[in-house]
Amino acid sequence: MSVTVREMLLEEVGLVIDYFHESSAEHLELLGVDPTRLPGRVQWRQLYETDFGQPIERRRSMLLLWEIDGRPIGFSSVDKIVYGKEAYMHLHIVDSGQRQSGYGVACVRESVDIYFDRLRLERLYCEPNAFNVAPNRTLQKAGFQYVKTHRTVPGPLNFHQPVTRWVYKRFAG
Ligand SMILES: CC(C)(COP(=O)(O)OP(=O)(O)OC[C@H]1O[C@@H](n2cnc3c(N)ncnc32)[C@H](O)[C@@H]1OP(=O)(O)O)[C@@H](O)C(=O)NCCC(=O)NCCS
Repeated sequence: MSVTVREMLLEEVGLVIDYFHESSAEHLELLGVDPTRLPGRVQWRQLYETDFGQPIERRRSMLLLWEIDGRPIGFSSVDKIVYGKEAYMHLHIVDSGQRQSGYGVACVRESVDIYFDRLRLERLYCEPNAFNVAPNRTLQKAGFQYVKTHRTVPGPLNFHQPVTRWVYKRFAG
């Protein structure tokens, strides 16, 4: 079983768009996502087209594809990027039948390395919904440090919710 994590190509972003648009209301609730805030499929693709055309220093987001034996199983993204400083990560295995098999931790570890290298980060944050056990456990196991639990609107797709902030720093301090 071989895990590969690589930058997603523009022609592959449909995986992300379909994932959110085809998720059940219950799954979106667990993610803290407000379905009324999802961009339409065409508009969302155009947003990625614009962003993929930017130099890395000015990207608003970055997407990584997670593959097992060459088959896509999930993805990670970052947003709120401050190039050379910090970004906020997201993590998703698309098919629920492939969750809880250790792939999440393996893919997060590889994703962290890519984000730090490509975006020259000092720190990488992740703020999952505080009640969503899977990412909270996964982040801790992948080496993220707990920062705090607080209420916020973590991103443009989200509703106001309690989140757990985790951080990964490449160098101590
Ligand atoms: C979050 C996610 C990527 C983690 O990937 P995964 O492959 O399921 O996680 P792993 O199998 O590597 O498990 C990592 C740890 O989390 C634990 N874990 C994972 N899912 C869990 C769950 N639903 N309940 C309890 N523990 C869980 C595992 O037991 C493991 O800990 P352990 O080894 O100490 O027992 C995946 O579960 C997922 O896509 N979930 C739906 C999307 C989501 O919630 N994304 C977060 C948005 S920020």
